[in-house]
Amino acid sequence: MADPAVVPHAVEELLRAYPIVNIMRDAAEDTEINGCPVFRGDTLMISLPAAGRDGSTYPRAAEVDLDQDRTTHLTFGAGPHRCLGSHLARPELRVAYEEWHRLIPEYELDPEFSPVEASGQMFTLNTLRLRWSR
Ligand code: HEM
Repeated sequence: MADPAVVPHAVEELLRAYPIVNIMRDAAEDTEINGCPVFRGDTLMISLPAAGRDGSTYPRAAEVDLDQDRTTHLTFGAGPHRCLGSHLARPELRVAYEEWHRLIPEYELDPEFSPVEASGQMFTLNTLRLRWSR
């Protein structure tokens, strides 16, 4: 709230820590990934949330640091199918965060309910209970 310049960093840092999409691929040929055999035609789910929290790439990967300028992540994918909408998604997130904090500047996690993360093809929160007063 005190420093709106943090918002663009927050957009990138939250995209890194909370990627939404687990992408799917079919193996075009037999190969091996870190000792795990992959056969032609196998369907793979590639976990972008795991990439975003890879400790060998990001120091303190499990922490969200809104002041830190970590701008690289794979949340929008890579290569020829990289997200076509990333340039729209970024300003949408920025506006959402700005408007949320303009309308609800003070809020907190409900201490009785821990957020529950879940992952299938989409990485999501099953539970996120917040509380604030008017
Ligand atoms: C935070 C929001 C978003 C995230 C995290 C996201 C993530 C992704 C990812 C990871 C892919 C790659 C899929 C793959 O390689 O199989 C993708 C593809 C795509 N995204 Fe997004 N996306 C977001 C928002 C949007 C928006 C707002 C639009 C359109 C208005 C959009 C349109 C597309 C399209 C058309 C593709 C397919 C590109 C292709 O296959 O060539 N996305 N997105």
